[in-house]
Amino acid sequence: MSPKKKVPESVRFTYGRQSWSYPVLTGTEGEKAVDITELRRDTGLVTLDPGFVNSGACLSDITFIDGEKGVLRHRGYAIEDLAEHCVFLEVAYLLIMGKLPDRKEWQSFSDLMNRHSMIHEDMRDFFLNYPEQAHPMAVLSAMVVSLSSFYPEIEQEDLKEPIDITVTRLLSKLRTIAAFSYKKSIGEPFVYPSRRLTYCENFLNMMFSSPVNDYWPDPVVVRALNLFLILHADHEQNCSTSVVRFVGSAGSSLYASIAAGICALWGPLHGGANQAVTEMLERILREDGGKVDRVIDRAKKKDPRARLMGFGHRIYKTYDPRARIAKETCMKLLARLGMQNDPVLQLAVELEEKALAEPYFQERALYPNVDFYTGIAYRAMGIPANMFTVLFALGRLPGWIAHWLENRRDPVQKIGRPRQVYNGPALRPFVPMDQR
Ligand code: ACO
Repeated sequence: MSPKKKVPESVRFTYGRQSWSYPVLTGTEGEKAVDITELRRDTGLVTLDPGFVNSGACLSDITFIDGEKGVLRHRGYAIEDLAEHCVFLEVAYLLIMGKLPDRKEWQSFSDLMNRHSMIHEDMRDFFLNYPEQAHPMAVLSAMVVSLSSFYPEIEQEDLKEPIDITVTRLLSKLRTIAAFSYKKSIGEPFVYPSRRLTYCENFLNMMFSSPVNDYWPDPVVVRALNLFLILHADHEQNCSTSVVRFVGSAGSSLYASIAAGICALWGPLHGGANQAVTEMLERILREDGGKVDRVIDRAKKKDPRARLMGFGHRIYKTYDPRARIAKETCMKLLARLGMQNDPVLQLAVELEEKALAEPYFQERALYPNVDFYTGIAYRAMGIPANMFTVLFALGRLPGWIAHWLENRRDPVQKIGRPRQVYNGPALRPFVPMDQR
């Protein structure tokens, strides 16, 4: 007897007297999705899904998340393994190229990164015209889009080789732009990148050394920074990554798409949460005398302004695996810096403990996310709060690039263009101005 053929799964859709069948796709890890590509053509209906809570936008090979089990993998590798064994740039290479680099590939990638780390001298002048209080995220996005006017040839590159000049230029220069925007905000001279330093050492050196301050990055701080950037490197179709893919789908350049992603990341419900967490903790110490019960009670009343920042996640309905690593790293870092009694850290630990014991948070599966502890660690490194989201952007950049490239090469993708259900006034007669 011949083996039974597996019947492909499908979903039957009935509307009026007709019904149609749509195929069910299964991902590598068993995730299922119904493919409704033909739905509107067949039925005349569109789907309505505010916030895309139920909608997949693409097939992707880059990152797998199981939000129920707290699993995060990049190109098949567990985040825990990558965090333990890699530096940030190895993970960047993995995301963009789909494989971890061997020694030779690593060497040529590092050489390219060094070669492209400086920004055009004329771009320095741009920094001088921002007001001192300008948020570094505004500067970052504007500078990234400006790169396209200094390097116009990127428009013509077909990006067949992902680790090409355009990609390394952006990876390397974003770090320089980030550090320059900080130096500008404190009125100190810019520090140039050095080929003797690694990616993270270079960033810290550009941030903290000055003509009157010889700075040598502490290896524990360098390791922690590598780790935080790895934890942020990609998170599949999150808000900013979807923006990058969307802008890229219109045929816009890599730089224009990433600049848009930076703006999306800036929001306090997304990457801006790391800044919002430390501001919230400092406010609790200042205004509530460190009394977390009051703060938890306010959060439970569901006033959006009283949400516990750094808590909750659209995908994770258990402890965010990145938050676990971030917490451990934050604790080790602060101990190493002699700051284990930091009142902000102690408050964060107490707040987490008490919130997790509350039925409100348990019933809604609200756990600390990656942003809950990272800001506390950055603060201990001496990084000011308005730079926290910039660090998130540095970390997320390889993910954005990988998704932009994947989208560009996907033959199925079209320009991103959702539908809507119009709910405004029906046709009405036009009234001239003097009769209104
Ligand atoms: N504090 C208190 N209540 C919360 C919180 C929170 N931080 N987050 C969600 N809730 C409640 C909501 O009021 C809602 O309650 P209900 O079901 O009784 O109406 C329920 O939990 C579900 O919340 P939604 O807003 O529907 O969840 P969504 O998936 O849309 O939002 C988000 C996820 C934006 C992360 C949200 O949890 C939040 O605002 N968290 C605080 C901001 C934050 O930390 N953002 C960083 C996210 S991670 C990242 O981008 C890297």
